[in-house]
Amino acid sequence: MAKIRTLPDVLVSKIAAGEIVERPASVVKELVENSIDAGATRVSVHLEAGGKRLIRVVDNGHGMSRDDALMSIERHATSKIRDIDDLFSIGTLGFRGEALPSIASVSRFRMITAAEGSKSGTEIYIEGGVMRKVKETASPAGSSVEVKNLFFNTPPRLKFLKRPETELGRALEVIQREALSRPGVSFEIFSDGRNIHRYSASESLSQRVAQIIPGTSLYEIDFEDETLALYGFLGSPLDPRSSMRRLFTYVNTRPVRDRFINRIIMDCYGRMVEKGRYPQGAVFIERDPALVDVNVHPTKSEVMFEGQYEVGQSIRRAIGGMLADAPWMKGYRERTQKALGDFYERQKDPGSPKRNDYPAATSSAKAASAQAAYKPGSTSSFHGGVSTVPEKSAETAKGDMFSDGFYSSLKFLGQVGKLYLVCESPDGIILIDQHAAHERVNFERIKKSYLEETSSCSQELLIPEVVELTVREINTARQFANEMERLGFNFEIFGENAVRIKSVPGFLRDSDYARVFSDLFDELDGFGDPKSLREHLDTVCATMACHSSITANRTLSEQETRNLFADMDASENPHACPHGRPVATRISYNMLEKMFKRT
Ligand SMILES: Nc1ncnc2c1ncn2[C@@H]1O[C@H](COP(=O)(O)OP(=O)(O)OP(=O)(O)O)[C@@H](O)[C@H]1O
Ligand SMILES: [Mg+2]
Repeated sequence: MAKIRTLPDVLVSKIAAGEIVERPASVVKELVENSIDAGATRVSVHLEAGGKRLIRVVDNGHGMSRDDALMSIERHATSKIRDIDDLFSIGTLGFRGEALPSIASVSRFRMITAAEGSKSGTEIYIEGGVMRKVKETASPAGSSVEVKNLFFNTPPRLKFLKRPETELGRALEVIQREALSRPGVSFEIFSDGRNIHRYSASESLSQRVAQIIPGTSLYEIDFEDETLALYGFLGSPLDPRSSMRRLFTYVNTRPVRDRFINRIIMDCYGRMVEKGRYPQGAVFIERDPALVDVNVHPTKSEVMFEGQYEVGQSIRRAIGGMLADAPWMKGYRERTQKALGDFYERQKDPGSPKRNDYPAATSSAKAASAQAAYKPGSTSSFHGGVSTVPEKSAETAKGDMFSDGFYSSLKFLGQVGKLYLVCESPDGIILIDQHAAHERVNFERIKKSYLEETSSCSQELLIPEVVELTVREINTARQFANEMERLGFNFEIFGENAVRIKSVPGFLRDSDYARVFSDLFDELDGFGDPKSLREHLDTVCATMACHSSITANRTLSEQETRNLFADMDASENPHACPHGRPVATRISYNMLEKMFKRT
């Protein structure tokens, strides 16, 4: 008997579903794209338990006749392409004819649809890929597709789904991406029966962009050459984010997450944006569909361009040209010049710092260690050349880096490069990276206050600061409110897309705390579950510590240096910054002797 056989349709659909339907957000994407392709001007999305229990997408598009409705749930049945030529000139979001049968094979699926002008509609009910009911029903023109109990018949998949709030966040992100490219379509979002957001139909793209990327100023791009047209809005390099979630890219109005496009955008911003940060904005690329292959990824979110090099060059020209012109570039240049000016100013007058005096250490332990006398000639266990600080050893000899009060015992000689503190120790020269050292001290403070639930570090703002957030970010805010409070941020949700920050960690009061707040959000968003914050506590505390720490390029006074050393001595591990870089390095007398050929 032959070993090879054709698989039954239900199984084939389930296999296809494995690729297309990863989670509720993937279903939302397919259904909303179908509504857009059907010419809808009103789309509403209803979610229960973040889409795990129910997803319903209702539109006022052209709907389907009974025959079409029955066809639509067949595999490879589509109204959007007919032949191979059409595959290379796709103008719709869908084209494979796979989404509906795939979704219907892994859920309890109900579709009610009526074509424009017809007197009645059709209702189809499918359970796990098996048709259970087809009947005529009353329905307004348009379609309503309901997906209940996603993955009820594929338990391994179900297990991979996250908490409802997390799944809701992902679904909201999908809706944002779709809504951004269709300003003429209104979107309403309901979660567990509550209307949580609405994008009303806007007259222009800029209005929709302002709804979806709030709280920042964006600059318009409008570019065209023989290769492509590129339009949209991009943000200032002074206001970047720590994730790409606020950078939306589209090819022929299809939302994409394409590495090639993202890399070129990042290249254009180049060194103006710090590593690990990304500009905000929405970029739309239009290119002859015959030269764009959209059939390269199961979720249709990547594309391949014919003439990739030219495409890259055109994107560079478009964004590079905008960056050269944008009004906020003036701010960027001013800031760079000011930084340079300050630098030269301080070169002339290496006196006390201009701002952010390093706060004095308070605890008695710190005070005691601050007073610890420098004792030249004490014994040392360190020998050898330049060494970054090794792991803490059990044996600590007096005068070595691990002995109590080591940093306070150093003789401070001066600062070089506005970053390194040069000190004399019994052993030789100790060089300390002031930023790394302060980061470590702050990191431990933040972590301690979180773990001990003291939130004593929190300080009320005289005037609460309003930060505008996207609907997805608001969802994260709700989930993480308690955790944020333990980290020292107290806020309340204010309207549909803003929060009012009422208090912030005290050590952040001179920093740009709205930015720290947004960065934390980006980070928390990635964890999914507030409970998992504990696992990532070090990362979160490191982000906060980095923002609040004294920077490079700042002259420290003798007193500030002393305070810093005392805090380092009071810290659990003063030898490495929270990112693992060494805080101090030593050049031993041995090494110096070798350098000067004395031995
Ligand atoms: N909301 C809707 N309104 C009107 N017609 C719809 C709607 N949803 C689906 N259809 C019809 O059903 C067909 C099948 O939809 P399905 O999503 O499975 O495939 P597709 O959109 O053609 O391609 P893809 O698999 O890439 O999404 C569509 O081609 C369209 O004709
Ligand atoms: Mg589709």
